[in-house]
Amino acid sequence: MCGIVAYKGNKDCHPILLDGLKRLEYRGYDSAGIACLFDSKISITKRAGKVKELQEAINTKKISKDFSTIGISHTRWATHGEPNHKNAHPHIDQSKKITLVHNGIIENYNSIKKFLLSKKIQFKSDTDTEVLVQLIGYFYNQGKLSFEESVRAALQRVDGAYGIVVLNIDFPEMMIAARKGSPLVLGLKQGEFFIASDISPIIKHTKKIIYLNEGEMIVINKEKYEIKSVNKNLVLPKKIETIDIKIDDLEKGNFDYFMHKEIHEQSDTILNTFRGRALKDDILLSGLSDYWKDIKNADRIYITACGTSWHAGLIGKKLIEKFARVPVHVEYASEFRYNTSLINKKTIVIGISQSGETADTLAAINKAKDVGALTIGICNVAGSSISRITDCGVFTRCGHEIGVASTKAFTGQISVLYLFALKLAYSKRTISKLSLVNHIKDEYDLVKRIKSVLMMEDTIKKIAVKYKEASGFLYLGRGLNFPIALEGALKLKEISYIHAEGYPAAEMKHGPIALIDKNMPTVFIVPKDRTYHKILSNIEEIKSRKGKVIVITNHKSKTLESLSDDLIVLPKTNSYLFLILATIVLQLFAFFIAVAKGCDVDQPRNLAKSVTVE
Ligand code: G6P
Repeated sequence: MCGIVAYKGNKDCHPILLDGLKRLEYRGYDSAGIACLFDSKISITKRAGKVKELQEAINTKKISKDFSTIGISHTRWATHGEPNHKNAHPHIDQSKKITLVHNGIIENYNSIKKFLLSKKIQFKSDTDTEVLVQLIGYFYNQGKLSFEESVRAALQRVDGAYGIVVLNIDFPEMMIAARKGSPLVLGLKQGEFFIASDISPIIKHTKKIIYLNEGEMIVINKEKYEIKSVNKNLVLPKKIETIDIKIDDLEKGNFDYFMHKEIHEQSDTILNTFRGRALKDDILLSGLSDYWKDIKNADRIYITACGTSWHAGLIGKKLIEKFARVPVHVEYASEFRYNTSLINKKTIVIGISQSGETADTLAAINKAKDVGALTIGICNVAGSSISRITDCGVFTRCGHEIGVASTKAFTGQISVLYLFALKLAYSKRTISKLSLVNHIKDEYDLVKRIKSVLMMEDTIKKIAVKYKEASGFLYLGRGLNFPIALEGALKLKEISYIHAEGYPAAEMKHGPIALIDKNMPTVFIVPKDRTYHKILSNIEEIKSRKGKVIVITNHKSKTLESLSDDLIVLPKTNSYLFLILATIVLQLFAFFIAVAKGCDVDQPRNLAKSVTVE
């Protein structure tokens, strides 16, 4: 949700900022802009639309590309104010001395705006962000506070979330950044500083990173930096971390789309999730070891998450209840944070998040911490806010996920939840050692099966293209595969803009069946388990209403062949792992439909990968 990149060093900032913005575009792509200090003035270039538009503007003769060694930049996902030129960041104060980029929402912007209007400050945009830069400018131009004190004074008066970077023309060697709610990292290199919303724009330049915590600010002046508290002028000791990510992980490689690459990475990413954890006859989750006694004795588990991660939570519930017999409640984080949740010190709260930055999930976890519940994070991004605020956790180890529609992170989350459920079950002796050993064996076999599913992609593509003009889709599954139906429908909606609904297969009779006609196909997920014959009846119900039927199964039968218009037969696995194979088919299916429709798969309209606002 909005990406920020800033640079201070000894090189021209433009190529560094543009390259960084492109890497952060998954966070928002409504408009983009750069401000740099040049020849005693602030030079701002911004454009509505994607970073490409900004780059073209900077490269044209009309806009001079000023050589500047200090600059800030932003790619926007609009909250307040239309995604147009005037609302694009960076914003500048009335005195034209101070410029700022912001990620987050200033919730009390109306009252601050009223105050500033009463002081004859005029606004140029409809954004909440402009209020913040004008407030900093207001304090600074009174002449009583230094630049740093003015930023601090303004931040102490705003409610809401922010990640900001600010420049002041009077201090061309200074850059100030601060965070509350929205992430920021600082990259350090000899004589150079990089600030960004995540590490992806930085790792090309340096692997030395400092993650900013809540309520902290960075003050860079000449060759020095200090991390301070926003509330007090107090220097905080901070650890410099060395990150271990290769730049290749952030490129498309031989693929045209990140999403396609990330779907194909799943045999490796799932192996990474299991490796060193699924041992011969035991499961080791070292991130949870110190808290295992509490986890084992919990009388209830809450899982909270958003979007695709919430779907993983639904599967987690079924796995934990099935194997470990502990009741599990799954709630959208945006609901959890305001509901009367019955959590206490004996409740475990698991927050699932690919990015580890989703504002609602973060707030839900904070609520759980407030009542003393033990919190567990299942995150993909190491160093992310959720991974740091939870008491303990397990990383999904999927590598950087860039496609806005989550793929490999989802199957990583399911894999972690599967390990967690089995470990908990074995600790509580609700499953035997033999059963544990067999499950572990199945996990490693799964990796081979994934490869064979990926090799079926031409078949999946042919089927997908056939249905690209469909008016809508129903996705149906039962039990463990109901959340997979939800996730398959979400993938299709996100990237192809075709309406799709996921439903429990039998529940379809209570409403969605009214939608069925020849233009509304149904995707059935049909594993060979005790629901197999029941689902065959559900398929009959659709067929008798002239609906087209696409079936994903691991058990081909004559009946299924005759009932389905298209049949995708997957390799045999246990029914807990079948759902991962079915997911991969649904990801490819959505991907090929979206590509056939000419959609921007990696950057679908209106979406952002990391939703850091409520
Ligand atoms: C956004 C993304 C989804 C993601 C959801 C939760 O909506 O577009 O792909 O599932 O946020 O994100 P998280 O990082 O918390 O898993």
